[in-house]
Amino acid sequence: WPVLAPVIHEINRLKKERNAVILAHNYMTPEIFHGVSDIVGDSLALAKEAAKTDADVIIQCGVHFMAETAKILNPDKTVLIPDMKAGCSLAESITAADVRALREKHPGVPIVTYVNTSADVKAECDICCTSANAVQVVESLGAPRVLLIPDQYLAANVARQTDVEILTWAGACEVHERFTAAELREYREIEPSVKIIAHPECPPEVVDEADFTGSTAGMIDWVKTNRPEKVMLVTECSMADNIASETPGVDYVRPCNLCPHMKRITLSKILDCLLEMRDEVTVDPQVAARARTAVERMINLKS
Ligand code: 13P
Ligand code: SF4
Repeated sequence: WPVLAPVIHEINRLKKERNAVILAHNYMTPEIFHGVSDIVGDSLALAKEAAKTDADVIIQCGVHFMAETAKILNPDKTVLIPDMKAGCSLAESITAADVRALREKHPGVPIVTYVNTSADVKAECDICCTSANAVQVVESLGAPRVLLIPDQYLAANVARQTDVEILTWAGACEVHERFTAAELREYREIEPSVKIIAHPECPPEVVDEADFTGSTAGMIDWVKTNRPEKVMLVTECSMADNIASETPGVDYVRPCNLCPHMKRITLSKILDCLLEMRDEVTVDPQVAARARTAVERMINLKS
C-alpha cells in the first residue's frame, strides 16, 4: 500500500515514542493487521496479551468491549480506542440489570459471559469465555446447568458439545446471524471441493454445513495447516484478506460479511489516537475489580 506508507511509518514512530502497543483483532483490515499491529489474534489471545504487556499505552484496534477488557486487566495503563463508537450487537444485547434478573430467576446457576459484553455485565458474572474456550469454561464449573450469555447461537453450538444443560439469552452477532445454511449448500453444489469453515457465532444449522468450526484464530490455524485449494470463511471479510498473503495457492471463496463496528477502526484514526492520546477507555474501578475476577478466572484455566 505505497500511498499508506507515510501514515504507517508515522504510526510506528509514534508508537515507540509513546511506549505504546497496538493489539489488533483478526477482523482489522490488512494495512492495520500487517502494517502497524504488534499483536494480532482472537479475543482470547488479545485478552491474554493485554494481561502481559509492559507498554504504558495500549491501543486497542478492535471493538469497545475488547478495549474495556484490556483496561480491566491493566487498570494503571492508558487504554485508547481509535473510535469510541466501535460497538458490538452482542455487547449491546444485555445489561447488568438483565444479568441480575437472570440470577434471581435461576438461583444457584453459574453465569458464564461471552467476552463480547460490557464491563458492567462481566462484573455480574462468574466467569468469562471466548469462542475458543467456551466448552472448556462451561465444563470447568462442575455444574449440571449453566447460563451462557448473551449469544444464543454460541450457546446452542456449545450445548451440542457438552452434557451440561445450557440456558442462554436472545443476543446474536449481526454479522454471523446473516449466513444461512441454504446459501452454503448452494456454494457446495457449485463447488463441491470447497472447504467451509464457520465461526461458532453462526446459527447451528450453518455450523452443520461446515467442515470445521472455531474461533477466528482457530479458523486461521485450520487454513494454514490444511491448505485447502478452495475455502469459504463464514465470518468477517478481513479474515481472508489478512491471511491470503501467507497462504499462497489457497483460493478464498466469498460470501463473507463486514462488521460495521470493526470497520470503524482505520489507519487515520489510529494516527489521531496516538497524536492526541485519545480516546481513552475508562472503567469504574469497583466494576473493573469485579469484572477482573471473571476475566482472570478464564485466563487462569489450564488449556
Ligand atoms: P473471536 O474470539 O473468535 O476472535 O471472535 C470475536 C468476534 O467478535 C467474532 O465476531
Ligand atoms: Fe460483535 Fe459480531 Fe462485530 Fe464480532 S463480528 S464485533 S460479535 S458484531
